[in-house]
Amino acid sequence: MAKILTGVQSTGTPHLGNLLGAIIPAIEMANKSNEESYFFIANLHSLTQIKDPEVLQKNTFSTAAAWLSFGLDTNKACFFKQSDVSEVTELAWYLSCFFPYQRLTLAHSFKDKSGNLKDINAGLFSYPMLMAADILIYDANIVPVGKDQLQHLEMTRDVASRFNNLMGETLVVPEPKLQEDSKYVIGTNGEKMSKSKNNTIDIFLPDQELRKQIMRIQTQSLSVEDKKNPTECNVFKIYSLVAAIEKKEELKQRYISGGLGYGEAKEILFNEILEKFQKQRDLYNSYHTNKKEVEAVLNEGAIKAQKQAQIVLKRVRSKVGF
Ligand code: TRP
Repeated sequence: MAKILTGVQSTGTPHLGNLLGAIIPAIEMANKSNEESYFFIANLHSLTQIKDPEVLQKNTFSTAAAWLSFGLDTNKACFFKQSDVSEVTELAWYLSCFFPYQRLTLAHSFKDKSGNLKDINAGLFSYPMLMAADILIYDANIVPVGKDQLQHLEMTRDVASRFNNLMGETLVVPEPKLQEDSKYVIGTNGEKMSKSKNNTIDIFLPDQELRKQIMRIQTQSLSVEDKKNPTECNVFKIYSLVAAIEKKEELKQRYISGGLGYGEAKEILFNEILEKFQKQRDLYNSYHTNKKEVEAVLNEGAIKAQKQAQIVLKRVRSKVGF
């Protein structure tokens, strides 16, 4: 049985773009797959950027709560926090000693980040070795990743092969599985939805704050009576991604016939989002009032993950002479 593994960034609560583009498809894949799967929240990696312990904890928790409220089946997938498996940092050290410094200097993500961030720490530089350890420590075979992570996967394969060549067959060389964003989700200004662009729709916000974000969606300046082209309207584009086909058709007719103002269109979108994600929003909130439930799931995942990690780490330790 193949093992599938992926790390989930924890830079904040996932927004509609993260959910429709990546999280919902990943959960569907994990829930219907018969393979063994591992999902972890990459909070050790987040430490390269977040130095406030409360923020780090809050982000980790909210990310976990979002995944659980969208139905990740934790009886099938092992779901845990990266920081609960400290074995991974030990493996990262061994791997670092088998990988040329020069190769790390060529990483695109380091170049990008060191151009944008103020805090350019050594963790940011050795990030790919921790990521390689994340994967290799579970003998993962398949790693679903976005395009931006492919180079990290190449380095993972490279360091595993180098270790195997020098020390004898020890580590499983994994394959990346390229995940294209299954849906392109636009934000409130019509560009791709992204936290850094400040154009997100955060479906887990309380009603009134969520409504405010939706009211911010940029539209043309046409009067209520005007006939409108739905395919040119940001409100309609977002509505199309969440509403069922019949509802979408109905709203389309109202755009075409005139008499629908943008304010009303936004109210319709707001109500659709509330209705469509009511169950997930309720669950998300209930996890926040009952944190123990989430912690119990993550702890159970951690115990299972640690067991696996110890097996591989023991193999590696004995190869290097410890
Ligand atoms: N670096 C990945 C990202 O930014 C997150 C990640 C950390 C990861 N460790 C991983 C992804 C291991 C896949 C496998 O999205």
